[in-house]
Amino acid sequence: MLYIDSMLQNSFSHSHPPVPLVDLKPAIVRFKEPFMEAVERVLSRGDFIKGEELSLFEAEFAAFSGVAHAIGCASGTDALHLGLRALGVQPGDEVIMPAMTFVATALGITLTGARPVLVDVDPETGLIDPDAVRRAITPRTRAILPVHLFGQCAAMDVLAGIATERGLWLVEDAAQAHGARHGERRAGSMGVVGCFSFFPGKNLGAFGDGGLVTTNDPALADRIALLGNWGSRRKYHHEEMGFNSRLDTLQAAFLRIKLRHLDEGNAARRRHAQRYDEALGDLPHIRLTRHDAGSIYHLYVIRTPARDEVLARLHAEGIQAGVHYPFAVHQLQAYRWLGHVTGDFPVAEDWARHSLSLPIYPELPEDTAQRVARLLSTHP
Ligand SMILES: Cc1ncc(COP(=O)(O)O)c(C=O)c1O
Repeated sequence: MLYIDSMLQNSFSHSHPPVPLVDLKPAIVRFKEPFMEAVERVLSRGDFIKGEELSLFEAEFAAFSGVAHAIGCASGTDALHLGLRALGVQPGDEVIMPAMTFVATALGITLTGARPVLVDVDPETGLIDPDAVRRAITPRTRAILPVHLFGQCAAMDVLAGIATERGLWLVEDAAQAHGARHGERRAGSMGVVGCFSFFPGKNLGAFGDGGLVTTNDPALADRIALLGNWGSRRKYHHEEMGFNSRLDTLQAAFLRIKLRHLDEGNAARRRHAQRYDEALGDLPHIRLTRHDAGSIYHLYVIRTPARDEVLARLHAEGIQAGVHYPFAVHQLQAYRWLGHVTGDFPVAEDWARHSLSLPIYPELPEDTAQRVARLLSTHP
């Protein structure tokens, strides 16, 4: 379970309160009044599907991200699927993606019938390696799908160059990167399509599932909206076989409130990350993850040889660290059919074996970095 740490409070006897990986409760408490007003507003209007708050949120998120269009949908997985499908990605096509990411990146591709083509990642950042992308291009490649992993944008300038040169679509998996910047540009504004998730634990999270696609192309925006609405623009006039994938009006109303505070929350995360960097930087058995100034630190990930022992030590002291992710995509049973073996993506496998995510969220107690540093000062 991701959140509400109050149950944990009683289960540790030591002097410090436990620190969850993510704590959603402070924001719920802080914005309770506007959230309740939003509930009242939506209930009184009764426009639960494709309502006014959704249109307003889509316009506000588009402006925030610096794109012309934002189309809500039911999840980040759907955002990837609908975005790729709207581009015309289909069976027989290949889409290049990183081997280290959440499974949904691959699912978004396979839902179109196309084949995910995995490539290895950068050893310092965990982000897709552009040289590996170049090597993986075949006549069947239609798109490159970088993931802005842990809240940091992939090397979009280089990837955009490759995509233009080879006539490929560049699609962003921005599920972990709401508000992240690459130079002056925000995540979701650099590819032909950007795909976001509003899973509750994301930097911009709803109180349930939700997702959104960004694009500057009006025809694509129209097609994504069409696909998510059973292929229909006018009630009972179905132009094609679409899906039912909309962002609930109520979730959009909550997200409008949270969006106003996103940059502030992301700045707080950066400060926590800096504290961790300073506290852990000199420990010889800890490898930090390199982030640029535009990162919004969705996750703060370190690597250490005895990962599972370190994790156990942190848990015993109430620090609820996690692992993102314990398997590279080719190591998942669901993707065995791709035919890879261990050793095919050694950098991604190294991340899977050694990475550990420390708690990070805007309201993280300020002494957490010091507590963690004390616990990790000796190698297990
Ligand atoms: C990188 C990445 N892509 C896609 C998704 C899928 O989003 P969702 O859970 O909203 O379907 C997630 C998060 O869950 C993610 O972390």
